[in-house]
Amino acid sequence: MKYLHSSFLLLILHLPSSALTPFPYLYEMHHKFSPPHLPLPTKPMNMSTWMSHLPLHTPLNTLSIPGTHDTMAYRANRLPKFTTTQTGTLHQQLHAGVRFIDIRARHYRNTFEMHHGVVYLGTNFTFVVRTLHAFLTGPGSSEVVLMRLKDEQHAQRNTRTFVQTLEWYIDVHEDTVEMLTDLLWFPGDTSRRLPLLGEARGRVVVLRDYDAEGATYELGLPYTDEKRIKIQDHYQLYTYLDVIKKKWDLIINFWREWVSFFNSILDASVPTTNPQDLPLLVNYLSGASLFCVPRNVATNEAWGINNRVQFFLRTAWETAWDAAFPAWREEFVELRGETLGVVVWDFINTRAARLVVSFNFRGVEGWDWSEVGFWTAGERWEFKEWN
Ligand SMILES: *[C@@H]1O[C@H](CO)[C@@H](O)[C@H](O)[C@H]1NC(C)=O
Ligand SMILES: *[C@@H]1O[C@H](CO)[C@@H](O)[C@H](O)[C@H]1NC(C)=O
Repeated sequence: MKYLHSSFLLLILHLPSSALTPFPYLYEMHHKFSPPHLPLPTKPMNMSTWMSHLPLHTPLNTLSIPGTHDTMAYRANRLPKFTTTQTGTLHQQLHAGVRFIDIRARHYRNTFEMHHGVVYLGTNFTFVVRTLHAFLTGPGSSEVVLMRLKDEQHAQRNTRTFVQTLEWYIDVHEDTVEMLTDLLWFPGDTSRRLPLLGEARGRVVVLRDYDAEGATYELGLPYTDEKRIKIQDHYQLYTYLDVIKKKWDLIINFWREWVSFFNSILDASVPTTNPQDLPLLVNYLSGASLFCVPRNVATNEAWGINNRVQFFLRTAWETAWDAAFPAWREEFVELRGETLGVVVWDFINTRAARLVVSFNFRGVEGWDWSEVGFWTAGERWEFKEWN
């Protein structure tokens, strides 16, 4: 099969691009075969600007994107254990390559305060906007950030709705109005498609996880539209065994199901679907329970999810996989160098982010993918909790 569709793609490359309408970017969208937009950098790739090496017409849902669950829950020293989900700050996460963030706002006194459930995270929406603006109008101007914006915890002491307060931040509030004008991506129509990379460079694509009833304009895309976004976010675990068995199976099965689906469409000899109409895949690795705080689930040395997923993805790259790990053979075949979608981590570190990003550059000539997943001395925040 792989052999067959490779020859087909070679054939396509020799057709004039007009033969490929209505999907003129078809032959480039499957990034295994895409020429990079800019020359490849000296290694290792700088994770602040990894999207700068991709073609402008890349549909965002065909990429492998590192993301963080509960992005702002990182002030480790001041938060209870069950609340903390990250070690790196938002700034650090962005520079490590994270391009999907999970921003949870409690609507309180007509403003947005950052919350994880009942716990106030000590910061507000203005801070998030400021950090994104500094990144996307500065070093990260080639990048796109997907932002899930979630209405979290019960609203209190407000005189308006969540969406009205959001529009106040966008149109009125003097601390944010100019920054948000630079930053936000507005869809030009009601197709509810994710933009192409080139349409949203330097911008934030809001994924609306709140009630947008009464909004005066269309902003970003709905997070809960199942046709557009496929999500695995089962986080309620009960025992350690649940982590090993249940959560792990959910993660792997989600990839198996959707990666096959994706590739059956992207590789079909007569493409019937515009790749932009395929869903965005969002696979949450996070989980927790009363006796099993997020840090344990993610980083426990023996059975933590992060080690397993990293090991799994690393091994998926390697050629000796079938001899070494016969039991995982099938999964590896399906995952090799394919679209992972958004991979949403608790306690992400630079190595994990780099590993996910590396899936976008597999097969690009001149790029030695085996180096991509490793820690490098240039990156100063490598968490010691797990490898
Ligand atoms: C956000 O937090 C900053 C710093 O604590 C504060 O000065 C500002 O007033 C807050 N903004 C809003 C809209 O609550
Ligand atoms: C990566 O690129 C950014 C933006 O150009 C730059 O500020 C940063 O120092 C670079 N990082 C490394 C490790 O070279």
